[in-house]
Amino acid sequence: MDKIIVEGGRALRGDVHISGAKNAALPILISALLTEGTSTFSNVPQLQDIHSTALLLENLGARVETGADTVRVDAGGQIQHEAEYDLVRKMRASVLVLGPLVARLGKARVSLPGGCAIGARPINLHLKGLAALGASIELKHGYVEASAGRLQGTDIYFDVVTVTGTENMMMAATLANGTTVLRNAAREPEIIALADTLTQMGADIHGAGTSVITIHGVSSLKPVEATIIPDRIEAGTFMMAAALTGGSVTIFDSEPDHLGALIDKLRLTGTDIKIDGQVVHVNHEGPLKSVDIKTQPYPGFPTDMQAQFMVLMSIAGGTSMISETIFENRFIHVSELRRMGADIQVSGNTAIVKGVPHLSAAQVMATDLRASASLILAGLVAEGTTQVNRVYHLDRGYQALEKKFAGLGATISRIK
Ligand code: EPZ
Repeated sequence: MDKIIVEGGRALRGDVHISGAKNAALPILISALLTEGTSTFSNVPQLQDIHSTALLLENLGARVETGADTVRVDAGGQIQHEAEYDLVRKMRASVLVLGPLVARLGKARVSLPGGCAIGARPINLHLKGLAALGASIELKHGYVEASAGRLQGTDIYFDVVTVTGTENMMMAATLANGTTVLRNAAREPEIIALADTLTQMGADIHGAGTSVITIHGVSSLKPVEATIIPDRIEAGTFMMAAALTGGSVTIFDSEPDHLGALIDKLRLTGTDIKIDGQVVHVNHEGPLKSVDIKTQPYPGFPTDMQAQFMVLMSIAGGTSMISETIFENRFIHVSELRRMGADIQVSGNTAIVKGVPHLSAAQVMATDLRASASLILAGLVAEGTTQVNRVYHLDRGYQALEKKFAGLGATISRIK
């Protein structure tokens, strides 16, 4: 298993280019299942999860060609309806094939995703939505078995805001008979990106980006050429790294409009942020001010940036309250940060972070994608050399993160 070694104490300086968004690419690649022909996607990040998605699509009978940052998916052939356990357990976003398979084939057999480090992450709302569209759902031997004639448009109310739940139902509804209205829908930029792609395929969708999305079913969709939007979580991670190390970093190819909540909070820590179209300049000098955050569905503060922000607060000048309202177990990074000298008390879904003068380097263990990024950030400011183990978590969601940090002057390397 690869490890990453990082030397603390260097202020990051220079330019960094943001890759395509993992959480936009996954549903968009899978949406190609709705069409008979070859779709071409560009600005696709080179990530483990993208590789897993390509395997999953091939496993279903599509032909997939992966280039430097393009992926071509030909779903014109015979598509089969089963996504097996071994693929789904590696990437829970595989459940996104449910909607397209039932819409196109009238059936699907998909392994139930297990829990994961950050929470139980059930898919009950995905299944409730499919059942509402007229599918019969059975759970057998750890698999979801769904079958339907042509899906029938209807109103679907999400009890909680679910990103992939919204994406799954939006895809299923594109080929349903009649109109579907998704209420309390997720509003993430990745939802808008998927809706834009489906619309280019010929779908009839209105309201993406708001909490009410209306889909008028059509009889078929055609292949498409689409470009993946920038990864707002990667961009946010670099903005926080610049603030954390007291550096001066220019971030290219990002979409600042997707980063409003983080920019607001970073400015409150005393970080200077200048926005110039797709370019963001981040400068920080002197101590960080302590700021409270509470994670919320978009456009609130993203849960995927909570662990990284906690590292900033661990060396800030006061006390910060961090509430995690999306996942029930997303403070796993706290115990590792404590081992590096952070002063963090957790009660329920709230962490109280008291700033300390400095962190001290240690051997630490990555547990989930964003927590592993936070440990790299901690290593960038800790005194000494930090070793982050199990960085395969990192490779799922960040393209060559250590190379990008090295390009900003960090002393960081990967050992096989
Ligand atoms: C998406 O996960 C992202 N993944 C996650 O990013 C992100 O953290 C999350 O949205 C929240 O923004 C992808 O887009 C591939 P949810 P998703 O359904 O869709 C509960 C990363 O690091 N829920 O919005 O699985 C659920 O338990 C990953 O890139 C149900 O109860 O998250 C959670 O508490 C991590 N029943 C809340 O809703 C359901 O049927 C939000 O989950 C579905 C969800």
